[in-house]
Amino acid sequence: MTRTIKLADGKAIPALQWGNGSGGLNGKHDPALQYGITALKTGVKAIDTAELYKTEIATGEAIKQVGAKKEDIWVTTKNIPTTAENLKANVQERISNLTFKPDLLLVHNPFVPEEGKIAEFWTLLEDLVLDGTLEGVSLGVSNYRPQDLKAVLDVARIKPVINQLEYHPYVLSHLQPVLDIHAQHGIVTEAYGPLTPLLRHPTGGPIKPILERIAARLTKELGKDVDAASVLLLWTINKGIVTVTTSTNPKNIEKIVSIEGLPDLSPEEVKEIEETGRKIYFRHYKEHMTKDFPEPDLPSDL
Ligand SMILES: NC(=O)c1ccc[n+]([C@@H]2O[C@H](COP(=O)([O-])OP(=O)(O)OC[C@H]3O[C@@H](n4cnc5c(N)ncnc54)[C@H](OP(=O)(O)O)[C@@H]3O)[C@@H](O)[C@H]2O)c1
Repeated sequence: MTRTIKLADGKAIPALQWGNGSGGLNGKHDPALQYGITALKTGVKAIDTAELYKTEIATGEAIKQVGAKKEDIWVTTKNIPTTAENLKANVQERISNLTFKPDLLLVHNPFVPEEGKIAEFWTLLEDLVLDGTLEGVSLGVSNYRPQDLKAVLDVARIKPVINQLEYHPYVLSHLQPVLDIHAQHGIVTEAYGPLTPLLRHPTGGPIKPILERIAARLTKELGKDVDAASVLLLWTINKGIVTVTTSTNPKNIEKIVSIEGLPDLSPEEVKEIEETGRKIYFRHYKEHMTKDFPEPDLPSDL
């Protein structure tokens, strides 16, 4: 079974995705190809790549080498905002690197060449859908704050279907204004860094024992090992969030794929993780996300 989430443009996107922009793969063709092949052979159904990662060619090659049909594998790529003159060539390069049109193209960040011209950049991108260059490709954004989303939504003929950003229980309080805009405009949230509470928070914080308790329950009930990381990824999917994780460890890749076979968490468990996580603020990927977008006054470690 592949859990999917419906986008506003009607497409069904796989909820669980494997990315090649971290885990030592960023900028490295051969490892991205090798582990892309491992991921696909293990059962991964969606790959998240980007111009910035220089892994688009490896993504296309991995799909070809395992003999998968393109229509069975979802591919998201992202472009770096560029000038009006270069944009068409830029998106054509994404397509030629992959050797097919991506299912979803995201603007990687709001750093458009001319500061403040986020809306104008979106209009240029929409023109490429309307002139056929990006026909059939869903359009979205990444790392957009409330002010960035508002600028786009004010002019959008095609609303972004997704905003991909760092998402996990410890950024929920900070992200609330972004999530409110998503809800209002039918924009699906896509998570990267979803394992941050377990991997990057100094202690794991207060959700760690909850995740471990649920992992123990599932392990007992299912008669097979389920770890806290799998529970956190399952929580993210159960929240209706498209979830991009990664691994180059075959055992962890198997665990990621086997999340599809796990039963959903109970509504009480989903709520407990959310309510506990909300009391903490901890983010790994800061960049502009904390600029002109106030951080909550919450402890970062409990
Ligand atoms: N749009 C953006 O600006 C942006 C920014 C960052 C990331 N991304 C995308 O999101 C993807 C994932 O980002 P992320 O690396 O931050 O995600 P993450 O899910 O928070 O962390 C991935 C790490 O988790 C480890 N892992 C996986 N399963 C595990 C398990 N069961 N137990 C313990 N560790 C486990 C992996 O290490 P092992 O290899 O050791 O298993 C991997 O390095 C990237 O590859 C990229 O495609 C996008």
